[in-house]
Amino acid sequence: LDKLSVAIDGPAGAGKSTVAKQVANRLNLVYIDTGAMYRAVTLKALRGEVDLDRQEELTGLARQSRIDLVGATPQRVFLDGEDVTEEIRTPEVSRSVSLVAMVPGVREVLVEQQRRLAEETGVVMDGRDIGTVVLPRAQAKFFLTASAEERARRRAKELMDKGYTIDITALTEEIRERDQLDSNRTVSPLVPAGDAIIIDSSGMTVEEVVHRIVAEIKQGE
Ligand code: C5P
Repeated sequence: LDKLSVAIDGPAGAGKSTVAKQVANRLNLVYIDTGAMYRAVTLKALRGEVDLDRQEELTGLARQSRIDLVGATPQRVFLDGEDVTEEIRTPEVSRSVSLVAMVPGVREVLVEQQRRLAEETGVVMDGRDIGTVVLPRAQAKFFLTASAEERARRRAKELMDKGYTIDITALTEEIRERDQLDSNRTVSPLVPAGDAIIIDSSGMTVEEVVHRIVAEIKQGE
């Protein structure tokens, strides 16, 4: 019997992680943040001062990394046994992660781990290519989006709550740039799967989005 897999894809700041966690909670599924895995490899590369255009070295790093995702609120992220939950969210990592995620070898290594996780247990997986590449046979697929301005506002709030000073114009620009890189790369670009339900969350509350997704999943069962 196939385990229930729910794919939630979309651009940065669309609210995927908040929504995905709550959906997982309601349906008793395990939440998997795949962006955190790309961030962990990026952190390792920055720490090791690996040039971000050295594809083979980055692939090697990914292969040698042990990444564990533990719990849901917050999901703690371990890199080779070290808790890097906070460190993978710094602006420095955010600025570099799309470059690391562009490397085909890095994706191959992480996608394989993601598929294995979904074989072990029912999951709500949050990412960019879950419905298209990682779990093309997921029973329910959602593409969550919102305007770039709305997404920048949400990210700004998140970062300010953590004590960062924010230049909203620069942040909007950074989000646009990251969307651009993620949407136009050759390997696994950010595009909705043909069978994904597209939800524009601009002007919707978290509760409304979660409700909509849970209702769609229940209807499909
Ligand atoms: O979800 P989050 O914003 O933390 O993801 C960080 C980056 O990781 C994305 O901008 C994207 O470049 C990459 N990513 C990806 N595929 C995924 C998840 C994240 O390429 N499934």
